[in-house]
Amino acid sequence: MHSLLIGKLSVGLRMQILDGKKAAQAIKDELRIDVAQRANEGKKIPHLAAVLVGNNGASETYVAAKVKACEETGFKSTLIRLDADISEYKLLEVIEELNTDTDVDGILVQLPLPKHIDDKKVINAIHPDKDVDGFHPVSVGKMVEGIPSYIPATPYGIMLLLEHYKIETKGKHAVVIGRSNIVGRPMSILLSGNSNPGNCTVTICHSHTKNLKEICLQGDIIVAALGIPEFVKGDMVKEGAVVIDVGITRVQDSTRKSGFRLKGDVDFEAVAPHCSWITPVPGGVGPMTIAALMKNTFNSCAAKN
Ligand code: GUN
Repeated sequence: MHSLLIGKLSVGLRMQILDGKKAAQAIKDELRIDVAQRANEGKKIPHLAAVLVGNNGASETYVAAKVKACEETGFKSTLIRLDADISEYKLLEVIEELNTDTDVDGILVQLPLPKHIDDKKVINAIHPDKDVDGFHPVSVGKMVEGIPSYIPATPYGIMLLLEHYKIETKGKHAVVIGRSNIVGRPMSILLSGNSNPGNCTVTICHSHTKNLKEICLQGDIIVAALGIPEFVKGDMVKEGAVVIDVGITRVQDSTRKSGFRLKGDVDFEAVAPHCSWITPVPGGVGPMTIAALMKNTFNSCAAKN
């Protein structure tokens, strides 16, 4: 059998990579054309406002990637950097200004926020019409009801990736590991929805789940979103499963200029040989998250103008 060389790993051709970088590029290319068309017609161009509080290294990287994606797609972007010790009241004032700024289509406040700020209060302060992160209770409620709304970027990006690669999900058993409001919970709702992709039977697992390995072994699709590097091992995955790795933990690596490298929640080398499809880290879910945020922001702009 021919083999495909991925880093030091040689795997059979049966396993295929869900290339998030490629799929995200295709989405951004489409958006760039749509934005250019809007500009030609004299219509408003999408404008994303990102708020970054403090200087958490990972958050800096993510926000920089979001701003870069805006440049690539022809969106306008505004980055508002605030000191880590800003008061909650002041931050809420900044959000209110963005809510009333008619030029701003989407607002994102990068999480996590410093401990003295209540992130729920901040999320609730964003006007639902500009909630391109899809974290506001109004957006979550609509998503649960199946009403068109802003879908949180990571699960939305995963749905777009499954769609891009035409992965059959109907009737499949999806096992979601992790129950965060940002990934696990919305992922379980989307995969169980009456949609394509969707129509899965979903099991959602968390830190109190018993027999996690046995449950994972029943999964036709596994979404690992618990934030523990290389948690999913080769003996937890059934033959032919589709594995989506949401993890992006920074682990020390003195051989790298940055001093770290990114590790997913899946032990890629051990798991990949069992899969039909698998996402790499980096280059899997990460770029799709950004593409999904861009789509939400474009839709916000198009809905209003
Ligand atoms: N922190 C981790 N993921 C996200 C995300 O999707 N949006 C925001 N705003 N913060 C995050």
